[in-house]
Amino acid sequence: MKICILFSLTFAYGFLGNGFSNANPLPYDAIFNFGDSISDTGNAATYNPTMPSNSPYGSTYFNHPSGRMSNGRLIIDFIAEAYGLPMLPPYLNLTKGQDITQGVNFAYAGSTALDKDFFMQQMLELDAASYSLSTQLEWFKKLKPSLCKSEECDSYFKNTLFIVGEIGGNDINAIIPYKNMSALREMVPLIVEAITNVITKLIEEGAVELVVPGNFPIGCNSAVLARVGSDKKEDYDQFGCLAAYNAFIEYYNRQLKKAIETLRQKNPHVKITYFDYYGAAKCLFQAPQQYGFSSGKIETFRACCGKGEPYGLSEQIYCGSVASMVCSDPSKRINWDGPHFTEAAYRLIAKGIVEGPFANPSLKSPPFKIA
Ligand SMILES: *[C@@H]1O[C@H](CO)[C@@H](O)[C@H](O)[C@H]1NC(C)=O
Ligand SMILES: *[C@@H]1O[C@H](CO)[C@@H](O)[C@H](O)[C@H]1NC(C)=O
Repeated sequence: MKICILFSLTFAYGFLGNGFSNANPLPYDAIFNFGDSISDTGNAATYNPTMPSNSPYGSTYFNHPSGRMSNGRLIIDFIAEAYGLPMLPPYLNLTKGQDITQGVNFAYAGSTALDKDFFMQQMLELDAASYSLSTQLEWFKKLKPSLCKSEECDSYFKNTLFIVGEIGGNDINAIIPYKNMSALREMVPLIVEAITNVITKLIEEGAVELVVPGNFPIGCNSAVLARVGSDKKEDYDQFGCLAAYNAFIEYYNRQLKKAIETLRQKNPHVKITYFDYYGAAKCLFQAPQQYGFSSGKIETFRACCGKGEPYGLSEQIYCGSVASMVCSDPSKRINWDGPHFTEAAYRLIAKGIVEGPFANPSLKSPPFKIA
């Protein structure tokens, strides 16, 4: 078995060695983020205070629900921290006069890569598809004049990171119940094209450094295991994940990476980094003990918040509802509420991205270690 190394203990930091000084400018002036609940820091919660507005969401780090779909910080929070930037404020909750020069978050929980029309054609009612990736791009364009004026934008964007994703996971989730694997594969080019289109438009707007994260191993996801879990042993890999679902995501990520390569060739002045969320998350499922998580064919996959057997989940009792339960030590669980990870898992994935081998090519060297 290949050993999984999430990050190296001897990783070099930008200017940690000689201490932080104001003479050292930060590697990035700002981060603008687009995506879904994996990186939403409060957009969906601003107007639609549903699940993440209830305890125990936010209980680990913020001590109150923070609009994030986890018990604490998300990957995007840890990335901002590593680069000395404040946590990104959610676009829909910006107040007049708020300083936005260090970045804004457009990610919206439940958001899709494809627009609402696509799902309506499939007879699927998806409210959050109203906040699809193209809508988030429109929000950015509306905000841009208050960020920089034409000539200033070039120097400002030179040190600005644009993160587009993870997005597409909800498109896949919405379709899974209605399609077999081969029909699901036919959807992939549409999702990849939607992402590519937004990247291209951001480049037209002046972006020169972008990130595109791939998708997670959904075959290891507690919500997927609970919903479509099978009785047949041969449907699972040696770690307890549903093999066909992971194979589908591997296919999806390969298509996404091909599209990124094409974008790089078309835009040689632009740096596009791929975040391998699949590889980083897979590490946690393959060697849970090594990273401080409970281990065991079922234990590894048990959600911390919810109720039901065997994965701690059921359709009726969702995390944050009165009947739901919360585990005693969320830092020992990878999965938080079914679809989403715990802060402990997000922290390790962020380390794998920023300090480890899961960003290709790497971002600029981070000045701070992810604690
Ligand atoms: C929106 O901003 C206000 C303060 O300006 C804050 O109290 C509130 O928690 C924020 N809501 C979300 C969902 O981020
Ligand atoms: C998958 O579904 C499509 C229709 O969406 C059908 O034509 C095809 O035969 C199915 N394939 C399998 C292996 O069941």
